[in-house]
Amino acid sequence: MIECVSGLFRNQGLHARPKILFTPILLLPTLTLPMSSTTFNLAALAGDGIGPEVMREAIKVLRAVEKKFSLTFNITEAPVGWAGIDAAGKALPDATLELCRKSDSILFGSVGLPDRDPTIPKEERPERAALLRLRKEFGLFANLRPVKLPKELAHSCPLRLDRQSDGIDILVVRELTGGMYFGQPKKTEQVSPGVQRAIDTMVYTTPEIERIAHVAFKAASVRRKKVTSIDKANVLENGVLWRDVVTTVGKLYPGVALEHMFVDNGAMQLLLKPTQFDVMLCENMFGDILSDEAAALAGSLGMLPSASLGATSGERTFGFYEPAGGTAPDIAGKNLANPIAQILSTALMLRYSFGLNDAADSIDRAVGQAIASGLRTGDIFNAADTAAKKVGTREMGDAIAGAI
Ligand code: IPM
Ligand code: MG
Repeated sequence: MIECVSGLFRNQGLHARPKILFTPILLLPTLTLPMSSTTFNLAALAGDGIGPEVMREAIKVLRAVEKKFSLTFNITEAPVGWAGIDAAGKALPDATLELCRKSDSILFGSVGLPDRDPTIPKEERPERAALLRLRKEFGLFANLRPVKLPKELAHSCPLRLDRQSDGIDILVVRELTGGMYFGQPKKTEQVSPGVQRAIDTMVYTTPEIERIAHVAFKAASVRRKKVTSIDKANVLENGVLWRDVVTTVGKLYPGVALEHMFVDNGAMQLLLKPTQFDVMLCENMFGDILSDEAAALAGSLGMLPSASLGATSGERTFGFYEPAGGTAPDIAGKNLANPIAQILSTALMLRYSFGLNDAADSIDRAVGQAIASGLRTGDIFNAADTAAKKVGTREMGDAIAGAI
């Protein structure tokens, strides 16, 4: 059996499933860190669009956590994305990459400004040259996207109330360094005058599927003990291999139920009966698509945090923490963006990379409190909810930091 990911799930099964919203998705044991481990070096790469303004609120919250829990976060900011191109001519400037190498974890905002894309070759654009490069560079193969719909946001969910049942609580486990995103050949060629051919290649090997499957089963074993593995085994060679390997790995986790689902059906089932899902295990592209769909169920893409993890070394798991929502250039700089996904991403960092579960809990709780008190950024505001009060990015950040 492959010794997988992070030691995150080492003491699996010690905790019951959390009942309160915004409690951790994977309840992890508090690691016993040596005294020196109260200092953490973080790279903060805010990026483009709404990145800087939501990052500012996340750092505000981290500063409140620092005070309350007597921790020290050495936060160094560096440009990435179009900000990197403007500052140093590259989406991932050398100094930014160097900073990441020296840091305990990366807090990432978002990159990409489609309007500027035509001005540079596609290989140099931020999504490929910065984000995908960082994922590959640090071997961040496991992407965890917890989707939760708090009951106070029931009106922000596009589904009818009866389809939401007791609330939606799904963990999308997305493979992040394989599949069609990275497979070779990947190119566009001229086949005849006026006719081009574009080629992307979907590639997975047994070990790549095994290691992400272990992550999903371990995660499910401290949740509701069910993995739904998504594939397209009726059409793709990759789907057949995916299904075989996941089935084999699943036999090592007799306490976790495994079901397989074709991706088209998975997309439909998310809308029809989202409460059937506990952990959804997806290859890279299917996970990209289904996690956005699932996030919409949780009220807004602005509520979806994510953790991208590689291997563990010692007691710290290097991780990359980013909101899944993108740069939203249309609302950038207007104090309209929802900072919650970025703030919840810092909670994931404290928990998964540093084992600071109490500090992470305090962030999750503070977010829950802000929502319970009726504060809403535009994306989760519903006028029909009379208790709701529309606030800006900064006010939401202040409220959450104040509740730490
Ligand atoms: C995500 C994003 C990225 C992806 C883009 C920005 C390259 O959509 O993290 O889900 O496709 O992985
Ligand atoms: Mg995406």
